[in-house]
Amino acid sequence: MNVKSLAAMLRNRRNRKQLYSTADYWDSKAVELAGDAVSMWPNNNLNRLYHREQLAVIDRLLPEVTGKCILDAGCGTGRIARYLAGRGATVHGFDFSARAIDIARGLSGGENPSYSVESIFELAEHDRYDAVVSWGSVAVACKDAEELLRALEKLVQALKPGGEILLLEPIHTGFLHRVLDLSVSAFAGVMREAGITVKGMYPLHFWPARLALSYVSLPGFVTSPGYHIGQSMMRAVPFLRLGDYTAMHGLAAKE
Ligand SMILES: C[S@@+](CC[C@H](N)C(=O)[O-])C[C@H]1O[C@@H](n2cnc3c(N)ncnc32)[C@H](O)[C@@H]1O
Repeated sequence: MNVKSLAAMLRNRRNRKQLYSTADYWDSKAVELAGDAVSMWPNNNLNRLYHREQLAVIDRLLPEVTGKCILDAGCGTGRIARYLAGRGATVHGFDFSARAIDIARGLSGGENPSYSVESIFELAEHDRYDAVVSWGSVAVACKDAEELLRALEKLVQALKPGGEILLLEPIHTGFLHRVLDLSVSAFAGVMREAGITVKGMYPLHFWPARLALSYVSLPGFVTSPGYHIGQSMMRAVPFLRLGDYTAMHGLAAKE
């Protein structure tokens, strides 16, 4: 990445509240970037480590997926959808970025995962899925608690009664927030309002390392130690809440 594109990236970060919740922004990333950077960060070495960390969380919290029907909300280029399909689930991914879905279809082939271009706010599925997963989509799709409630109600509606929901989201107030500016406890409160029993909340991705490593395509020998030192810090002082993301695990408590 050159200085010009870094400047553009930082400008985008300043305007993130307006930008990140538009399909145009994610479509433009699909044109400008390659690999997981389309849906994640410009540093694909960091993306690989995050991907591994996220899959470990998914494996721990959704250990039995074979034969299950799973929805990947805001699936981007489909990396999590493909992983779950590889573990024996029938997966549908949707995203409002048509270009990201084009890439997802190209990378996946076959019928599982299937994909559609749609916004979370227009989702019209009922009682169909055993589980819903999302990484980084809900907190960029929603501007406030009211929109979050609408989005979560759509996901709950798509779940069968007792279905599971696993959201891995950047949930913050202030400097670190993306589009949604809400605390983790307020987020959990909106989940409950949407009819979700919250079973657990777990931090991911040490945020100081994320800020230092994500915006530039740094080599693996810089990224990897920075990432692992950060993860150790997060484990050593859990009360400091140093996770950039929080995994919110719940059950749809509908009749
Ligand atoms: C940080 S990316 C994560 C993509 C993917 N979940 C992954 O982990 O690779 C956020 C995604 O949310 C999608 N998104 C944002 N708002 C959305 C909305 N209202 N409806 C559907 N998708 C949305 C974006 O297009 C983008 O692909």
